[in-house]
Amino acid sequence: MKHDIETREDIIEFVNAFYGNMKPDDLVGHIFLEVEQVDFAKHLPKMYDFWEMLLLDGSNYRGAPMQPHFRVNEKTPLTPAHFDRWLEMFKETIDSLFEGPKAEEAKSKAFNIASTWSYKLEYLRKL
Ligand code: HEM
Repeated sequence: MKHDIETREDIIEFVNAFYGNMKPDDLVGHIFLEVEQVDFAKHLPKMYDFWEMLLLDGSNYRGAPMQPHFRVNEKTPLTPAHFDRWLEMFKETIDSLFEGPKAEEAKSKAFNIASTWSYKLEYLRKL
């Protein structure tokens, strides 16, 4: 039986699984691998801290999470289609591993953030 997201180890598990699903994805994966050539050894710990802050009240995350997306958006537009695909993979990953109120919270927080960022980036592209 699946359990809920309870510990940092659970967060590490879903973040790693999410990136495992995302890297081969044609629409979103290539932005990480080719457009940005992301250093995952540095990026993944930031994502663990970010999700630990959102779900378990962690205080390790320091930063401006939307910042790198402005930079990416200038090189290659991050469109609603990218965010929809990102969210779809995020939901699939969470549902494949966890079940419970925190798992639902992770999906709804991801949805709220993705919707806000998608809207802001689209607005900026029209200026
Ligand atoms: C189309 C969807 C997305 C793409 C292509 C994308 C891509 C990226 C890239 C290229 C980076 C910089 C990695 C690096 O070099 O360190 C990044 C950072 C990050 N992304 Fe995304 N992202 C997407 C959506 C999201 C969403 C929806 C969230 C949150 C729910 C998110 C959270 C973050 C965070 C927390 C960072 C680290 C920021 C920091 O440096 O402190 N991303 N993303």
